[in-house]
Amino acid sequence: MYQLNDQVFSIDEFLRDYWQKKPVVIRQGFNNFNDPISADEIAGLACDEAVQSRLVYKQNDQWQAEFGPFEDYQHLGEENWSLIVQALDHWSEDAAQLIEPFRFIPHWRLDDLMVSFATPGGGVGPHIDLYDVFICQGSGSRRWRVGDRGDYHEFAAHPALLHVEPFEPMIDVELNTGDILYIPPGFPHDGVTLETSLSFSVGFRTNSGANLISGLADHLIDQDLATTLIEDPTRTASNHCGAIDASDYALIKRHMQAVFEDDTLMQRFIGSFLTEAKHELDIQPDNESYSTQELSQLLAEHDLVRLGGLRAFYFSETIEQGTCYINGEPCQFDPDISPIVQQMCDHVRLSKDTSALWRDNTLFIEFIKQQIARGYWYFAE
Ligand code: SIN
Ligand code: CO
Repeated sequence: MYQLNDQVFSIDEFLRDYWQKKPVVIRQGFNNFNDPISADEIAGLACDEAVQSRLVYKQNDQWQAEFGPFEDYQHLGEENWSLIVQALDHWSEDAAQLIEPFRFIPHWRLDDLMVSFATPGGGVGPHIDLYDVFICQGSGSRRWRVGDRGDYHEFAAHPALLHVEPFEPMIDVELNTGDILYIPPGFPHDGVTLETSLSFSVGFRTNSGANLISGLADHLIDQDLATTLIEDPTRTASNHCGAIDASDYALIKRHMQAVFEDDTLMQRFIGSFLTEAKHELDIQPDNESYSTQELSQLLAEHDLVRLGGLRAFYFSETIEQGTCYINGEPCQFDPDISPIVQQMCDHVRLSKDTSALWRDNTLFIEFIKQQIARGYWYFAE
């Protein structure tokens, strides 16, 4: 269990003064921090081809980047390299716990948990990110410099490394175990390891209009939606046949706006789009066919855990009507079980106590049977 130290961190003050506004160092944001995973386990994960990983190092003053899976790390020596594993929350239940203290930001804004193992001198170089990140320092220490937002020249130090020109730091600190550095999008930063280090980055994502509209267009085409044509039976004669006149421009815009105003269509799109996983999930479908009684008994004995990285969201109207969105698709259920499905979307773990009231409900048992069969939820040991 990780908990933010409320002596040094107030969620309301953080949201008011820093979130999306400016970077901040939270000294001892975690008291008595212990790494949720070891460097050896991280190195092992980076050997798995399903896991997204990269090595970044400098060779003869030239930046180098290599992508996993890796076979060994012998050639790297003791200094000046770092190994980064993306979507660690998909592969380590213990590491995924590090996301929990940041749940005051809704899950749809979350991207993933990334870890960087770095030897002295190691780092990815000065760069700018397009996302908010909480960098939580595990064992070891790193020096972080963060500059102000500005119009910086960016260049490829290596085809896979977009760097930024030197910047004047507004923050220049040594992060030690338990410290947290929050950086909003657009602030140049550079972390250089002092003592062999593990840093855990809880990253958030957002979407541009272009991104959303291109996702919407794909959704409309896939689902064969919004196929009605523009109609103009009341047209009068045009004097300038080269013109798209004001009323025609308004007609075309209205036709497009009608798509955005269709809440059923838009919620279905947004729910599906935002629950799509951006990184591979460790899905292990469970083919065992449990009887209702067996499932009820398992619920009495075990917590039910959501697969690491699985995204399950709802809108307040849809959850009441029996629709949530799981891993890129709408999911229907009987509205009688809405309260417990809502709990499954809000929490990564459904405790035995929480499910106790529902474990004799056949609609609920049917719902979890499907989720378990798909590998989306599983029983804790
Ligand atoms: C790192 O941990 O080396 C990179 C994290 C970042 O700056 O985004
Ligand atoms: Co960064």
